Amino acid sequence: MATNRTPQHHPTGPIPDEIIETPAFVIDEAAVIRNLERSLSAAGGAARFMPHVKTHRAPWVTRLLREMGVETFKTATLAEVEMVASCGARSVTLAYPTVNPATVARFAQCAQANPATDFVGMIDSRFGLDVWQAQLKDGPANIRMRVDLDPGFGRTGALMGQAAIDLARALYEAGRFAGWHLYDGHVHGERAERRATVDEEVRAVERLNQRLADEGIAGDLVAGGSYTFDLWPRDVAQYVSPGSWTYSSAQHDIELPELKWEPAAFVLSTVISAHDGTITLDAGAKAIAPDKPLKKRFRTDGEILLMSEEHCVVRTEGPAVGDRLLLMPQHACTTAYLHDRAWVHTASGTWEMREQLGNTR
Ligand SMILES: Cc1ncc(COP(=O)(O)O)c(C=O)c1O
Repeated sequence: MATNRTPQHHPTGPIPDEIIETPAFVIDEAAVIRNLERSLSAAGGAARFMPHVKTHRAPWVTRLLREMGVETFKTATLAEVEMVASCGARSVTLAYPTVNPATVARFAQCAQANPATDFVGMIDSRFGLDVWQAQLKDGPANIRMRVDLDPGFGRTGALMGQAAIDLARALYEAGRFAGWHLYDGHVHGERAERRATVDEEVRAVERLNQRLADEGIAGDLVAGGSYTFDLWPRDVAQYVSPGSWTYSSAQHDIELPELKWEPAAFVLSTVISAHDGTITLDAGAKAIAPDKPLKKRFRTDGEILLMSEEHCVVRTEGPAVGDRLLLMPQHACTTAYLHDRAWVHTASGTWEMREQLGNTR
C-alpha cells in the first residue's frame, strides 16, 4: 500500500492510499522509534526505563521496546500485566494500588503462570497491605511490592512520612519489599519550576531512605512521568516511568520542546457531510477520546463545534464530502483505548494492521 504525506490542516502523518474503513487508528512506527530513542537518551539508557504501557496497550510496541533493551514495564490493569508477561518481559509492575481481592488474585495467578517474570504490586494503605498479604502468604515467590508515595498529587500514595515507613517495614518483614513508587503527574510548567519541585521530592525521598537505612532496610525508587522523568537524579530514582512519549500528544511540542517527541498516533476520518461553513466527520467520541475539553480534542485549524458518539462537526473551509482527514488526538492514551487494532505505517514503509488491547481490562 502506498503512502500520501500531505494532509491539509493537520499535523503531518502517514495516510494509506488504499481506501480503508474509517474512523481508523493510524500509527507512524518510525515516529514511535524516534520518540523511544529520544526518551532513552533523556532517561540515561534502557536499563533505567520503565515505560507505562497504558499509553498504547499494544503487544507490538512492547516487543519493540524489548528489542531496544527495555525490560521493565509499568501497567494499570490486569490485561496490561498479562500482555506484558506474554511478551516475555523481565519485570512488570502494576502501578495501581488496587485493594480489590479479585484483582490481586488474578495478578497472583499471572505470576504463578510466568515464573521467569518479576511481578511487582503496590500498596498505599494498611487495608491494601492486608488484602495483598492474604494472597501472598503462600503465594508465588516472584511477587514483590512497592509502597506508593504521594508527592502532593493527591491521587494515590501514602504520605511521605511515618505512614510510608510503616508500610515499607511491613512489606520488608513479609520478605516482599522492592522499594518506592512515586508518580508526580501534577508537576507541569517551565523546566526550572519543574526542576525545583522535583528537587523537593528528592529531599523527601532521601529523608525516607535515611529512616529505612536506620532500620537496615533498603529499596529502590520508580519515579516520574513525561514532565519530570529527565529531572530525577539517577542515584535517587533508579527507574523512571514516562508513558505518553510513545505517541506524544498535542501539548508536548509546546510544553516539552526539549524532548523533541513527535506525534505518532492519529485518527483517520472521512468527511461525510458538509453544511454552510462546517463539515461533519465520521470520528465521534467513540473514535477520539472525549476526556479533553471539546475544542481541544484534536488539533485543527478550524473550530470543533460538536462531538457526539459517531459524528464530529468542525467549522472550517476547504475539506469537502469524501475527503479523508488525519486527526491528531490531544490525548493519544485514551484514544488508543477506543481501538482494538491500528493501521501501522511500518518503519520499512509498508502498512500493517496490528492488534492492541483496546478497552479490555
Ligand atoms: C502511575 C503512572 N505512572 C506513569 C505514567 C506515565 O506518565 P506520563 O503520562 O506523564 O508520561 C502515568 C500516567 O498517567 C501514571 O498514572
